[in-house]
Amino acid sequence: MRGREVGLLVLQTAPRWGVERTGAAVALVSLQGVGKTFSGRTGAWEAVRDFSLDLAEGEFFCLLGTSGCGKTTVLNMVAGFEPPTAGSILLDGAPVQGPGADRGVVFQGHDSLYDWLTALDNIGFGLRLRGMGKAERRAKAEHFLRMVGLTGQGAKHPSELSGGMKQRIQIARALANDPRMLLMDEPFGALDAMTRAVLQGELSRIWAETKKTVLFITHDIEEACALATRIGVMRRGPGGTLKAIVPVDLPFPRERTSDDFMRVFRDVHALIHDEIHGAH
Ligand SMILES: Nc1ncnc2c1ncn2[C@@H]1O[C@H](COP(=O)(O)OP(=O)(O)OP(=O)(O)O)[C@@H](O)[C@H]1O
Ligand SMILES: [Mg+2]
Repeated sequence: MRGREVGLLVLQTAPRWGVERTGAAVALVSLQGVGKTFSGRTGAWEAVRDFSLDLAEGEFFCLLGTSGCGKTTVLNMVAGFEPPTAGSILLDGAPVQGPGADRGVVFQGHDSLYDWLTALDNIGFGLRLRGMGKAERRAKAEHFLRMVGLTGQGAKHPSELSGGMKQRIQIARALANDPRMLLMDEPFGALDAMTRAVLQGELSRIWAETKKTVLFITHDIEEACALATRIGVMRRGPGGTLKAIVPVDLPFPRERTSDDFMRVFRDVHALIHDEIHGAH
């Protein structure tokens, strides 16, 4: 294994994060030397530089970093919303060329739901676009409504739902399209601490049930430690990149007050602390 091992941590010293290093037979997603430079009114800004990562099928990968380090930029490129300006992103071995139903995206804000549709119709929206008949669509939407714990709330419109309920509907909508992976950009960032903890538990259960591959962005260390099978810590920008990967080999559901949990938390905290306080 290349890279320097420090306890649980593997610091990225090599430019490539090869398949063999994840222990995975085949990577579902492979980012190879990915860079993104925005050019605009204020000149060029290198948001992401030489970002390499392989995601194995079925893993829950949390990308953690300080504000502005390039997390959303990475997710947007994997989603196909933005092309990289350097390197390549492969999904199942083929270059990502735009958004696709194989990647379900859950955004931070809840205003990505269609307010003129009921919760159930929001969940079934993608299925309707794909031409699925009404009865089948409704049955599927009900199934995912149940999965996110909102049975009986399907007739409400987004404006009649709480923030936590809207995030559940977003997750159900993403799952209804049966994507290969879920891309989640701080989906619980706007929720109060208790609702967030409940939704983290639900998401963890849903992940175990559906076996989806998840790329989850957060700046909350505890959230990452509670959910992830691996945590990628980003170095701050300009030229934000992957600094270290921390494997989280703890059973689910995670016991947040256990010594093992605290140990992982401390390791990740030390990495982030350096980013906030300047030591590279
Ligand atoms: N469309 C754009 N044009 C120019 N610069 C951009 C654009 N999008 C992002 N950036 C810049 O790229 C950098 C990374 O932004 P990004 O949104 O990826 O950060 P982030 O890690 O998601 O931050 P946060 O935690 O605050 O959401 C920032 O400096 C930002 O100003
Ligand atoms: Mg962001």
